[in-house]
Amino acid sequence: MQPENIYLSPAKLNLDLRIIGKLPNGYHALESIFTLIDLYDTLKIQPRNDTQIVLHTPTVGVPTEQDLTVRAATLLQHFSGSLKGVDIWIEKRIPMGGGLGGGSSNAATVLLVLNHLWGCGLNQQQLIDIGVMLGADVPFFIFGQTAFARGVGEQLQAIDVPAQHYVLVRPEAHVATPKIFAHPDLPRNSSSNPNPTWVNLQPLRNDMQAVVLQDYPKVQAAFAELAKHGEPRMTGSGACLFLPCESVEQTQEIQKMLSESLQSWCVQAIDKHPLYPLLSNR
Ligand code: C5P
Repeated sequence: MQPENIYLSPAKLNLDLRIIGKLPNGYHALESIFTLIDLYDTLKIQPRNDTQIVLHTPTVGVPTEQDLTVRAATLLQHFSGSLKGVDIWIEKRIPMGGGLGGGSSNAATVLLVLNHLWGCGLNQQQLIDIGVMLGADVPFFIFGQTAFARGVGEQLQAIDVPAQHYVLVRPEAHVATPKIFAHPDLPRNSSSNPNPTWVNLQPLRNDMQAVVLQDYPKVQAAFAELAKHGEPRMTGSGACLFLPCESVEQTQEIQKMLSESLQSWCVQAIDKHPLYPLLSNR
């Protein structure tokens, strides 16, 4: 067991994101490279001997039963038949609503940890099947390594990506994901890549970026500032932007030159999810 039952929940970046088409259920078919980065929320997860699921750190404005971590624990109870419960505390560092997948990551952490602590014995694919019911980004965090994703994000394969460092910035804008997916100007007909490799996918892009830059001046301004130092891209449906760099030193030099009003981090990709070892029966 971890010291004091503390577990890490990393953020993600979409290094590339293309919209292939629309699915019958209204969702969009995507193809995307996801990678984990070393920006973490911390979760304390303690099993209970009754069946209650208790979130001690609710997010303002989110009813507890709608919180993704509570829904994750409830779904796992349902599918595994577990009669145990859990106490959950979340310490947030990953900005919310920024395209970094914080809420999805927290849900995946709860699934991975409780599968272990409750002794459910579900394998990775079974957890991914539960994860996709919670959100399109959850399966990737259970997959736990740099991936090429298809479908809404649930069909995952490992992909080799050069080790990279990034300056990550959070423009002061809240992008509503459903609004961007419904945007009339959103390109939806990128061609599917039958043989996705790092080389085949160059130049990398994000099909959602242009409409977000067009509609959110603060994202546009942050993008222009980062573009003085390289080739920034947006992650997910934004609003966070990242600039690929060669080294930690380079990220730190660039970060120093950014305006102080812009929240920023120096981050790097991580090879494997910190909880990957819990999936002994992959
Ligand atoms: O799965 P998630 O909760 O992140 O999705 C938020 C919204 O984004 C969905 O309700 C849907 O409108 C849109 N979406 C989509 N296609 C996807 C993922 C999300 O249209 N692949």
